[in-house]
Amino acid sequence: MAKTIQAIRGMNDCSPTESPLWQWVEGKVRSVLQNYGYSEVRMPIVESTPLFARAIGEVTDVVSKEMYTFWDNDEQLTLRPEGTAGCVRAAIEHGWIYNNEQRLWYMGPMFRHERPQKGRYRQFHQAGVEVFGIANPEIDAELIILTARLWRELGISEHVTLQLNSIGSLEARKNYRSALVVFLQQYVDLLSDEEKERLEKNPLRILDTKNQALQEVLNDAPKLLDYLDDESREHFTQLCSLLDAVGIQYEINPKLVRGLDYYNKTVFEWVTSALGAQGTVCGGGRYDGLVEQLGGHAACGVGFAMGLERLVLLVQEVNAAIELPKAVDIYLVYQGEGTTLAAFQLAETIRTALPHLRTMLHCSGGNFKKQFKRADKSGATLALVIGESEVQNQQVVVKDLLSGTEQQTLALVDVVDYIKNHF
Ligand code: HAM
Repeated sequence: MAKTIQAIRGMNDCSPTESPLWQWVEGKVRSVLQNYGYSEVRMPIVESTPLFARAIGEVTDVVSKEMYTFWDNDEQLTLRPEGTAGCVRAAIEHGWIYNNEQRLWYMGPMFRHERPQKGRYRQFHQAGVEVFGIANPEIDAELIILTARLWRELGISEHVTLQLNSIGSLEARKNYRSALVVFLQQYVDLLSDEEKERLEKNPLRILDTKNQALQEVLNDAPKLLDYLDDESREHFTQLCSLLDAVGIQYEINPKLVRGLDYYNKTVFEWVTSALGAQGTVCGGGRYDGLVEQLGGHAACGVGFAMGLERLVLLVQEVNAAIELPKAVDIYLVYQGEGTTLAAFQLAETIRTALPHLRTMLHCSGGNFKKQFKRADKSGATLALVIGESEVQNQQVVVKDLLSGTEQQTLALVDVVDYIKNHF
């Protein structure tokens, strides 16, 4: 036998048994976003490499080590590691945000060359939101309220908590960065080689270290919130009071800085302890300088993205109550002279009259016994049976596959009404 070819490590297939849950989660995401009046956008999966380097930042982990980059003739291209950069590029290119507000969302695959583990993959899927042209903290609050509604819809509210911080203006961060470096220089011995490198290039990232000894030391480090500029402080205070007013609980986490360089002011993450190490299900914040930085007319921005694999895992873990739609509701079996055409016609009539039901027609021949086995295996509730005498008499036999009750013979013209009442 020829050697089989396997999927790439960290890139998963979604099986026919997994896809109903994925569709259910994606459906909830779509309906909540529509509920708030957001519009869908779709961007390419491949963009020119400098877009990510400029937007996300050269010294971030994503750009410095996790991008899938290749040459296409003389142009360097990258599989998108996230959606914000591409969305801002598209918004500038098509003038979506010139003198205009936009509330946009997208969903699709992203690619990062990370070490795969539960909840962390090399191809993963995000649903993301980007809002342009609104500076007020009301919009930051709306995004958080929207995600909280989605968690209720998904039945995971009890298992996620909100972490919130403000990282202020660029200027404030520069001042804070200097203070943090001075502080950390006293503890250089505790830093790993990677952290020593970060101390020079991106010291704020040391704040979310996994190193326990360093974490303890960091409890006494200068706090970013103490370095905030007045405008950012006021923005953050207003956001917190809005969240208080609508009853959304949050924890202010002064160490939350996020891994991408474009943020300013508000940053937030929704985290869970139910998934092990990869517990961030959603992350986002403001990026008021990014549009201009990528060559557009200045326009503020704020957004978030959630990891769909992590949401699906969390729903599986904590929400056993969901009822997923079946793949098949009605299965049609038939045998004998003239029955094939009658079965095709009946199946099409049902699909037209009752499009919300899933009607499957047996296509692989065999006697009734074999066909009923398939019908049972399909999970259908109802089997419709057409034999030669049914064709002659314009009738159909219906059999409830779940209850096992006696089968009944119906006039062909009554079948649609019968099914309508049955489901
Ligand atoms: P991010 O924090 O890099 O932010 O990713 C957002 C979410 O994507 C994470 O919280 C996580 O749930 C999921 N995720 C990230 N990497 C992986 C992975 N390797 N495997 C599985 N899931 C993963 C962003 O991407 C920003 N663009 C979010 C944003 C939009 N900020 C403003 N607007």
